[in-house]
Amino acid sequence: MAAVPTTDHPVLVGVPDQPPLDPRTLDPRTLDIKAKQEAYHDWESRTYEEKFSISYDQRCIDYARDRFRKVVPAGAGFGRVLEVGAGTGFFLINLALGGCLEGAALEATDISQGMLDVCRRNGAEHGLDITTTQGDAEALPYDDDTFDLVMGHAFIHHLPVPGAALREMLRVLRPGGTLVIAGEPTELGDRISWAVKNTTYRAFMALTALPGLTDLRKPSIRASGGSAVDEVLAGLEYEVDLHTFRPRDVEKMARLAGFREVRVVTEELTANWFGWAVRTVEGSIRPDAIGRRWAYGAFRGYLALTAFDERFLQGRVPRELFYNLLLHARKPYADATR
Ligand SMILES: C[S@@+](CC[C@H](N)C(=O)[O-])C[C@H]1O[C@@H](n2cnc3c(N)ncnc32)[C@H](O)[C@@H]1O
Repeated sequence: MAAVPTTDHPVLVGVPDQPPLDPRTLDPRTLDIKAKQEAYHDWESRTYEEKFSISYDQRCIDYARDRFRKVVPAGAGFGRVLEVGAGTGFFLINLALGGCLEGAALEATDISQGMLDVCRRNGAEHGLDITTTQGDAEALPYDDDTFDLVMGHAFIHHLPVPGAALREMLRVLRPGGTLVIAGEPTELGDRISWAVKNTTYRAFMALTALPGLTDLRKPSIRASGGSAVDEVLAGLEYEVDLHTFRPRDVEKMARLAGFREVRVVTEELTANWFGWAVRTVEGSIRPDAIGRRWAYGAFRGYLALTAFDERFLQGRVPRELFYNLLLHARKPYADATR
């Protein structure tokens, strides 16, 4: 069962219907962004996979494996693998199911115990034994030189100091070990995606204002049985995304952290616009109005546009405009001549 923040959690101070916190015991240092990340993601872990149409089947295996294979060649083997900010295990589990982590010992860490509980359960359901340890990416709970591969997907943009996490990932990697970070938003790609989301949302609201269509709109949290606590936690969604990145800054950050063989690849242009339009509709519509077939249809559209981006736009359009950023790097051997 996923951990759900208790109502006396620091981020719930002042929520209507909750007992006021005692100022004598309130530690202002806990009211920081990390407390919010933990509370939000614990709460979100209950619905995260539904929200992002996450599954453990060919659709998501192909997605994860395609990202990974852009920076790690087939045939590369790893003994001990860690995913940081692993959430419910989307990247780690789909890569393992796709044969990219053959024979490796799998570990996952995240600031949210709720996410890790779902991750371990998902792993077990797919025959994978995943060791999970709750921790902060900026102070990883592992010894130096422990892992052959350290990965992350869609998580460094949540960290106050992403460079600190890169240094930690370097520290826990064995010399010669590999770092792969995928699914991070670029600065320009994110700005364009906001315009797409905004336009889609306005169009959806205009359409569902028509007679007979208003009940297509998703009911508010309170109207669908949620509490004041749910409302506050849901609202943290707008506080937990902290960064977008310029590709060259990420390269610099990785080198400053001590990595070598640093390579940043960006991808998804029209595919991403389509993806955000789909997700905006999914976030605005009554959940029972769409089903699994919608997810597969949307994915087929995404695949077609990804192929278009790769065939016609990659290499012609500046890499800064693509939305998704992938980083590959290696920890140097102490003897840099090896
Ligand atoms: C958008 S989710 C991505 C989860 C997963 N990697 C995926 O791709 O589905 C971001 C994850 O980062 C985690 N996170 C946020 N801040 C963190 C921190 N300081 N240390 C470790 N994990 C953190 C969250 O709990 C959440 O699980």
